[in-house]
Amino acid sequence: MRLVLSLLLCMSALLADGIPREEYKNRRTQLRKSLDGVMVLFGAEEPEDLHVSFFEESNFLYLSGWREPGAVMMLTPKEEILFLPPRNQHTETFTGHKTSADDPGVIQKTGFDKVLPYAAIESTFLKLIETSSRLYTLADDRQAQKLKSFAVLHESSDAGKAIAALRMIKSPAEIELITKTTEISVQAHLAAWKALKSGMYEYQVAAVMTNAYFERGCERSAYAPIVGSGPNSIVLHYMSNHRRIDSGEVVLMDVGAECSDYATDITRTVPANGKFTDRQREIYNIVLGAQKAAIAAIKPGVRVRGEAPSLQQIARDYINTHGKDLHGDSLGKYFTHGLSHHVGLDVHDPSNDPNDTLRPGMIITIEPGVYIPEENIGVRIEDTLLVTENGSKNLSGGLPREAAEIEKLVGK
Ligand code: GLY
Repeated sequence: MRLVLSLLLCMSALLADGIPREEYKNRRTQLRKSLDGVMVLFGAEEPEDLHVSFFEESNFLYLSGWREPGAVMMLTPKEEILFLPPRNQHTETFTGHKTSADDPGVIQKTGFDKVLPYAAIESTFLKLIETSSRLYTLADDRQAQKLKSFAVLHESSDAGKAIAALRMIKSPAEIELITKTTEISVQAHLAAWKALKSGMYEYQVAAVMTNAYFERGCERSAYAPIVGSGPNSIVLHYMSNHRRIDSGEVVLMDVGAECSDYATDITRTVPANGKFTDRQREIYNIVLGAQKAAIAAIKPGVRVRGEAPSLQQIARDYINTHGKDLHGDSLGKYFTHGLSHHVGLDVHDPSNDPNDTLRPGMIITIEPGVYIPEENIGVRIEDTLLVTENGSKNLSGGLPREAAEIEKLVGK
């Protein structure tokens, strides 16, 4: 009984926050070992517009799990310090209670070795940089400018790159959460296929999908849902979702949830009336062939971008050597975006390797597409995959990709 109880307590700790508390500390410890100086990170500020939600900056969240606005972190090989802003009664009336550095139990609550008030930022920073020659900040961090001006003679480094070295390789807890997010998003796609009928509006299809993942416990969309029918299927990041879907068109659905902070990314293209035309099926099968060829080539050591045999080139070669447009030209020129990106806390998670040489534990998308404006046909097929020791595991593999399987499920 005690064992069951403690297992339940353990599970609820995991579900409440997603990532176990110790993992945040381990991430900071690992990062600090790689530093030869002081890293300063500013968390996101509370938005001035009360109608805009607060979301923590993702590097800050990755290292702290902290979800209150205005925090600052300093990391050195020897120390980790979190700075918290003073409480503001007026703001709290609108957006709720905040933690301050002098709250009892703040060390336990934050998990940091040391928590100081905002007022101590400058003096602490000046002390820390005395004994180091390098300063790490995020490249686009405007809030860090003032501190940087105190350290103009220090070497400067991009904190984002140092953190990306960790973020690129997912921990077992992250893999579990992204798997869960992906499986729930697969259910959302299946729900949309079942509901899809010509005459529906694109936003109604999006509503079926978001409802499916909110109902299953996901807190938000990983990105604004893309539901593009007919001419909108060729718009890569179409998001207004306002058009009525006609029979005989394809519907491109690029939709993924975010659950317990972790994103996924899945795209399928289906026929609105449940049956691809011959030409739609031809284009569909070319994109599918390109995706299969790229996925088959995934293994540690392979490059995503650059010259052959990169995954990008494998997919492009496949598209270029299969099928033609209405003018007899190859289709490669209609593949107008990248093949892959990392997925994690952000739907486009960072990588610090320009060629993205694959390593076990990376989670990436494979998403070839062909978009032919003249024919109003846009097809993208996208899955989220875990790179393993020997190849890959398709986390969204539960969602059918074969044209005939899709036809069996749309509108049924
Ligand atoms: N699938 C959405 C994106 O990659 O931005």
